[in-house]
Amino acid sequence: MASPEAVGAPPEVSAGIDQKKPSKQQIDPYNVAGEIDDSGNTKAIDYDRLIEEFGTQPLTEHHLRRFEEVTGKPAFRLMRRKLFFSHRDFDKILDAYEKYGSFMLYTGRGPSSGSMHLGHCIPFLFTKELQELFDVPLVIMMTDDEKYLYTRNKNDGVQKKGNAAEDFLEYAHENIKDIIALGFDPKKTFIYTDYEYLGGHFYRNTSEFESLVTFNQASGAFGFNASTSIGFAAYMAKQCAAAFPSSYPELFGYPDYRPPHYDPSAQRRHKALASIPTLIPCAIDQEPYFRILRDRCERMTDPHPKTCLILSKFLTALQGPGGKMSASDPNSAIFMSDTPAQIKNKINKHAFSGGRETAEDHKKYGGNPDVDVAYTYLSYFLEDDAELEDLAQKYRSGEMMTGEMKARCIAELQKFVGEFQERRKEITHEVMRTYTTPRKMEYGGNPRVKASPSEANGSLTETPAAAAAGKDGRGTKGERKAAKLAAKKEGKLPVRQKDQDGGGGDATAS
Ligand code: TRP
Repeated sequence: MASPEAVGAPPEVSAGIDQKKPSKQQIDPYNVAGEIDDSGNTKAIDYDRLIEEFGTQPLTEHHLRRFEEVTGKPAFRLMRRKLFFSHRDFDKILDAYEKYGSFMLYTGRGPSSGSMHLGHCIPFLFTKELQELFDVPLVIMMTDDEKYLYTRNKNDGVQKKGNAAEDFLEYAHENIKDIIALGFDPKKTFIYTDYEYLGGHFYRNTSEFESLVTFNQASGAFGFNASTSIGFAAYMAKQCAAAFPSSYPELFGYPDYRPPHYDPSAQRRHKALASIPTLIPCAIDQEPYFRILRDRCERMTDPHPKTCLILSKFLTALQGPGGKMSASDPNSAIFMSDTPAQIKNKINKHAFSGGRETAEDHKKYGGNPDVDVAYTYLSYFLEDDAELEDLAQKYRSGEMMTGEMKARCIAELQKFVGEFQERRKEITHEVMRTYTTPRKMEYGGNPRVKASPSEANGSLTETPAAAAAGKDGRGTKGERKAAKLAAKKEGKLPVRQKDQDGGGGDATAS
């Protein structure tokens, strides 16, 4: 886990040409770096070791099959290729979706600068695919506060140019426009910055969560020490409380609850929302937050099911495996604002090659696509499995040269970034505001689960017990009551439907 120095260390260490001191692989929310061996070479990130260290589960063929069975659709390429390679309780979210028809997706981004690069897009591309396949609501948290506090903490509290709270809010707005341009559906996507949205039920969940984490536990996970600012140390609770659907009552049809609205029924957090499960797609460096979250979901006054995670690898820096693309090192990353010429230059000049020293040797012995950066990028962006396999084979056999692999990669990235830029032009401030306005989400959920229209469009109102009571998943009122009583006895009732008094998706008619 993170060492006590972690928080003061540079934010992103990318693989480079500089000679470095030997060090162990370090992955946590504030550091991503492969091992540096005795001769100063950066090694590729060892993901198997990470799974072991973090205690997460590998994503297997079984999960892919189960995913296809539940959604009736083929798994997305990032999942097929195990670029999302690990999880916690992914099976459980599939089970819940199969039984009760919906869940909430949650992901986020720390707006450290105004421009996003390809690596930042990966979790969002994947999340968008999941949202489309499952037809469920999604919240995206932009942590302007986290990046502000992190930067001030790193600078010993010294405020530098471009580092005011307002600057990070501004970066968040620009990043939100980029995220929207990736194609999220405004009907079921809520994007917010912490500075603009935090308050109300969210803040109450945050307070409660803060009360469940001791400073020792937080420093164990994040490497905080006595010199860490209390603001930065406290931030983690916000990233955790953001996973609770009860932090966002408006999205599930509950009336506005912030001043000047004093409707008493809207003041208390809604127990019904606590039963909605959450799935977080994110890069594995964020896992330390959610380990702490999962251990406390069931300790909340309104217990939440343990949050499920699906975790990705990092998009390698241009310099090769061992580091990730870093916004602070322009030569390590392809930015979403790069021109076709810049993309071409960066790949040709900087992309680490898995080819041989000379063309002769390459033809004779073949190259290694596994460490070849151009091939690696293609594995993220090229949809066609057969073509990808063909490229790998031809590279291995020496039939295909590094220059050709790079050309194929350049074409694919220029297409992806070019199409993105076309959409990005249309994202005005007003468009952004439609996504950042809290409003009732419209989503259908699992079409195979029969539910009344208000249920389908609201929260996960059924209890497992109620579902077991009737073939339509609800049964009669009497049956539901009996089933609930039985479940209560067994201690597994996650929600009381009565608590839906504030509105939302409860269908009381039977
Ligand atoms: N801490 C994350 C970052 O620095 C931002 C974030 C907040 C996040 N909530 C999240 C990322 C949930 C993934 C999932 O980028």
